[in-house]
Amino acid sequence: MTIHQSAQGGSQPSSAGEPAQDTGIEVEPVAGHIGAEVTGADLTVPLDDTAVTQIRAALLRFKVLFFRDQHLDHAAHVAFSRHFGEPVVRPRRGSSAPPEFAEIETAANRLGGTRFGLDHGEWLERRRYSLLRGWHCDHGSRIDPPALTVLRAGTVPPYGGDTTWANLVAAYSGLSEPLRGFVDGLRAEHRLGVGYLPNPIDDEYARHLLEHQIATVHPLVRVHPETGERVLFVNGYYLQRIQGLSRAESSRIVELLLEQATRPEYTVRFRWDPGAVAIWDNRAAIHLAPDDVNHLGFRRIMHRVMITGDVPVGVDGSPSQPITWPQPW
Ligand SMILES: [Fe+2]
Repeated sequence: MTIHQSAQGGSQPSSAGEPAQDTGIEVEPVAGHIGAEVTGADLTVPLDDTAVTQIRAALLRFKVLFFRDQHLDHAAHVAFSRHFGEPVVRPRRGSSAPPEFAEIETAANRLGGTRFGLDHGEWLERRRYSLLRGWHCDHGSRIDPPALTVLRAGTVPPYGGDTTWANLVAAYSGLSEPLRGFVDGLRAEHRLGVGYLPNPIDDEYARHLLEHQIATVHPLVRVHPETGERVLFVNGYYLQRIQGLSRAESSRIVELLLEQATRPEYTVRFRWDPGAVAIWDNRAAIHLAPDDVNHLGFRRIMHRVMITGDVPVGVDGSPSQPITWPQPW
C-alpha cells in the first residue's frame, strides 16, 4: 500500500513504516484532517488479508475512505463489509430495503415521515430544532453505536446530495488544553428524537419515539478502542444534555463543542457518483446528511451496511450506561 503525502516529501510506506506487501492499493488524502481516496482495490471480489489490514489501517488513520467506480451489488456490498466485522441486522429496516439482504438498509430521500402520516417537509421542520441537527453518528443513542458504516451510492442526483464528515479526534485535539481537561471528565445523555417538536393534536411519530425510545449516558470524550485516541463524542442529533451542568451551561457548552466538531478544517465533503462507496469510522467521525436535493426534485437512493460496535469507554475507563433497557434494534 502506498500513502501519498506530497506535503511531507512524496510517497511513503504504510503506517508502521515497514515495507508492506504490494497490494497495489493507494491511499490519497483529500483533506488536511480527514478523508482519503483509495484506488487499486476491487471491492467486487473478496479481498485478501493484507488488503483488508491495509484498508483498516487507512480507515483508522483517515476516519473515512472513498472508493469510486466499484458498482457493487447487494451481495458484494455485504461481502466487502464483512471483512471489517459483523453486520448489524435490524428487524425494522423500512420499505425501501431489499428483503433478501437483511444486512442492507436503504435510504431514499423524500420518504422520511411519510410512514407516520407526516409530509416529508413538515417532518424535517419538526426535527430541525438546531442548526447542527443534521450532524450525527449512526445510532448514537444506543449503548453500542455501530463501529463502522459502509455506504454505497444507488441512485445519485446529477448535483447536490454530497455527504460531509468531521473528524472528532482532530476536533478534540484542537481544543485548548484547559477545555480538554474540563470535557474529559464529563458524561452526556444521548436520546433518540431529542428536540423533536410534537404536533399537540395528533402525532404518530411522537408516539413512535416514545414507544421505541433509546437513550444512553455516554462519556463526552471516549477513548477509541483500536487507536486509543480521544474522541470528542458529540453530535447534533442525539446529544441532549451534559450531566451535572445546569440547562443553560449544558446548552452553551454543547453548542461550543458542536461548533468545534464541525469547523470546516475538520471536515471533508464527498460528491457521490454511481459506483462510489464510502466507509467510515462511526466511533471517530460524525457525518452530515445532505439537505440540498429535495427542492430540486432529484431522487437519491443510498444503501448502507453497519458493522457492530462496542460500548464506549471514557477517559476514566468507565463505560457508557443505558438509560433505557433493553435497546432492541
Ligand atoms: Fe447517517
